[in-house]
Amino acid sequence: MTRLGVIGGGGWLGKALLLPALADGVIAGEALTVSSRSGTAAGFAPWPAVRQTKDNAALAGDADVVMLSVRPQDLDAITLDLSGKLIISVMAMVSLDDLAARFKARRIIRAMPNAAAEKRLSFTPWLASSDATDADCVFAERFFNASGQAQRIGTEAELDYFTALTGSGPAFLAAFADAMISDAVAKGIGRGIAERAVRQLFLGGSALMADSEQTPAEIVQAFLDYAGTTAAGLEAMAAADIRTPIAHGLRAAAAKAAAGTRKQ
Ligand SMILES: NC(=O)c1ccc[n+]([C@@H]2O[C@H](COP(=O)([O-])OP(=O)(O)OC[C@H]3O[C@@H](n4cnc5c(N)ncnc54)[C@H](OP(=O)(O)O)[C@@H]3O)[C@@H](O)[C@H]2O)c1
Repeated sequence: MTRLGVIGGGGWLGKALLLPALADGVIAGEALTVSSRSGTAAGFAPWPAVRQTKDNAALAGDADVVMLSVRPQDLDAITLDLSGKLIISVMAMVSLDDLAARFKARRIIRAMPNAAAEKRLSFTPWLASSDATDADCVFAERFFNASGQAQRIGTEAELDYFTALTGSGPAFLAAFADAMISDAVAKGIGRGIAERAVRQLFLGGSALMADSEQTPAEIVQAFLDYAGTTAAGLEAMAAADIRTPIAHGLRAAAAKAAAGTRKQ
């Protein structure tokens, strides 16, 4: 069984990824060490064999795979020689080259989960350095599939784009939902009812879209062809150029991800 050490594993994303992986047996409690600055992260009680530490060097010494899940501003405080280990980083804006130089490592995987990992519904693109082995890639795919859908991609430029598209995506959906709620409230609907309605709308609409045989574009076309009230709404949104602000937002988030990655 792969011995995994997760630096920052007691944090929000670390736990969202680790608890499903433990539940699915992708990692065994006795093969997992998590570190945090406090050394005591809540949430691992169902797996009493999981070790907790403040000592990242001890964590790394005992691990085949070291996962990095600290905030970017906390990375400089972590100086370790991880040569010979697989590094998996879920950190935004820290490039493969930067990780290789900091930690003297050649086998590196970068992944970009999103907040839905907590519900096992993340979309998690990942890419591997050229020295990562097939076994490294199989481990990453299994690990990230436990908290959603893993998808191998080819380049860091794509990872920067996905940092915007799906990494930031849950916040963009929340912004769309909030715009709908504000409109409903402006039309006199009570805020509580509007919020409940729009939450249920996103849940139902997402569930329909997730397993529909139609693509999103085909769903839109089907409603346009039906020529009812929905078509009137879709046509007005298209006439108001709904796509441009969405593209602007994605471009800005991707540019920030790319700028951060280049700066390191
Ligand atoms: N949140 C998301 O939706 C999301 C999505 C994709 C990627 N990410 C990436 O995930 C990373 C972590 O984000 P997060 O939201 O999980 O942050 P978080 O909740 O603040 O967790 C970070 C963890 O790192 C620990 N830590 C900080 N410095 C440490 C050190 N020197 N040694 C050991 N542990 C240390 C903290 O420990 P203490 O609690 O003891 O201070 C904390 O548990 C970030 O790089 C972010 O870019 C996040």
